[in-house]
Amino acid sequence: MIVIAALGAGFVAYAWRSPIAAIAQPEPASFKAGEVERGAQLAAIGDCNTCHTAENGKLFAGGRAFVTPFGTIYSTNITPDAETGIGNWSLAAFQRAMREGVDREGNYLYPAFPYDHFTLTRDDDIGALYAFLMTREPARQEASANELVFPLNHRVLLAGWKLLFVSPGPYQAQPDRDELWNRGAYLAEGLGHCGACHTPRNAFGAEDSGRRYAGADIDGWHAYRLDSTADAHVPWSEDAIYAYLRSGWHGDHGVARGPMAPVVENLASVPDDDVRAIAHYIAGIMGVPKLQPPSAPQAPAVAMNQSGARPQSAGSQTLPPIAPDAATASDLGARLYAASCAACHEAGRAVPIGAINLALSSSITGASPDNLLRILLTGIPAKGDGQRNPIMPGFANTMSDPQILALATYLRGRFGGQRPGWDDLPATLSQVRTDMNPKAGRQASAARP
Ligand code: HEC
Ligand code: HEC
Ligand code: HEC
Repeated sequence: MIVIAALGAGFVAYAWRSPIAAIAQPEPASFKAGEVERGAQLAAIGDCNTCHTAENGKLFAGGRAFVTPFGTIYSTNITPDAETGIGNWSLAAFQRAMREGVDREGNYLYPAFPYDHFTLTRDDDIGALYAFLMTREPARQEASANELVFPLNHRVLLAGWKLLFVSPGPYQAQPDRDELWNRGAYLAEGLGHCGACHTPRNAFGAEDSGRRYAGADIDGWHAYRLDSTADAHVPWSEDAIYAYLRSGWHGDHGVARGPMAPVVENLASVPDDDVRAIAHYIAGIMGVPKLQPPSAPQAPAVAMNQSGARPQSAGSQTLPPIAPDAATASDLGARLYAASCAACHEAGRAVPIGAINLALSSSITGASPDNLLRILLTGIPAKGDGQRNPIMPGFANTMSDPQILALATYLRGRFGGQRPGWDDLPATLSQVRTDMNPKAGRQASAARP
């Protein structure tokens, strides 16, 4: 008993963090030239807007819900409102939050805030982020109370989580790697927090360090593996990753949708150099993919990619039709594909004007059917921004469940490159249907405490 009490007291003493005094909101003139602009770019790389803005809510005012296996956590108001935001936080308080996951008053923050990545951020970049946030429009909005299961509603426990799962930053450059790689590692592992979605999590909701970038589920989507066994049929090249991150699509790989869509939307405002560095680093993680020998339909695409074809001209354009026999096949899935999909997906026009040959899409070769079913049911809506964006109709109302299951089974068998069928198809389909019904649908979720 005494030992436990002593250990408990020791832990509380270890975990205690003092409050940092409130300050008056700093004057915009107090920031160095260029700091606010650089902060805007860093905030885009860090997706601060995506997580800290509720649907139809004020920018950065918080309130987005994260449904986790441990309960619901709400993002907070990070506008410079003095009472409900971080207007009275000093740079030191902001820096402690980013590096240590502790708020101004000394409370531990839940890692739904990916400070396990943000800790790598250098002091000068934290200063730029601070300058950017402190010069935003203040918005008055109280943070919603979290709904977490006991004992996780006690923030002090997060001190233990942090001890186990967070390696404190800032980033230390690896001397045996060149500058571009180090810059990419700094951004991708740090503010870019790519692993937060692409690395599977353990029972404590922390990223599994033994399975980095092995692919994970997020908000009902699958964030594909980005390691050396990447899901794509055509190996990703550094240029392809760059183009995909830069513009949201690539002729050999299709478009970024679901939770990846805001990531690339944000990256659009980030300088080329930064995106290039991230692509360089991720290409290194993918290494040379261990591809299965390409079967006949994929061969031309693989060859084309290796010949260094430009992204714009690659893709379905020069591929031969994949399933000339599909129209006559008795199989229900094959008939549906020929009637409803092939006209666009085998038309020989590459994205963004046409659609990729489905043999190239990771949604068919990936570990789970989530992304295929979501895109099949909802389609790709027009963005309405005046740009020429890919558009696909949704089939939620025109196809029955048995039809969708038959089609998905057919696509996996035909274009999955000998991968085994998905055994969770029916369950995934009913989950996707539920999510599409706004009343029953779940909100944004993340598998972390
Ligand atoms: C994946 C979602 C996510 C992203 C991305 C994210 N945040 Fe957060 N952030 C959260 C959540 C959730 C909380 C609340 C955590 C809690 O209550 O313990 C939070 C809390 C914070 C806090 C503490 C505020 C307070 O009042 O206690 C700060 C500061 C913060 N975030 C800054 C940022 C910045 C700067 C960025 C971008 C570089 C960012 N966040 C990106 C989810 C996110
Ligand atoms: C909020 C979660 C999230 C974050 C953060 C995120 N991704 Fe993704 N990513 C996804 C999802 C989900 C997909 C699948 C999208 C789809 O099906 O269109 C994806 C797809 C991709 C793909 C395409 C893979 C393929 O085989 O088609 C690449 C490449 C990628 N992400 C790279 C990155 C990089 C680099 C970062 C960090 C800068 C990053 N992602 C950050 C969720 C995320
Ligand atoms: C009117 C044209 C059109 C029709 C019909 C159509 N699609 Fe699409 N589809 C597109 C476009 C455009 C895209 C986005 C560009 C891309 O990713 O190829 C797309 C994307 C996709 C993707 C994502 C590919 C990726 O990884 O980026 C899948 C999967 C898909 N469609 C499946 C289907 C299936 C299955 C059918 C038939 C039931 C179908 N589509 C019918 C136009 C169409």
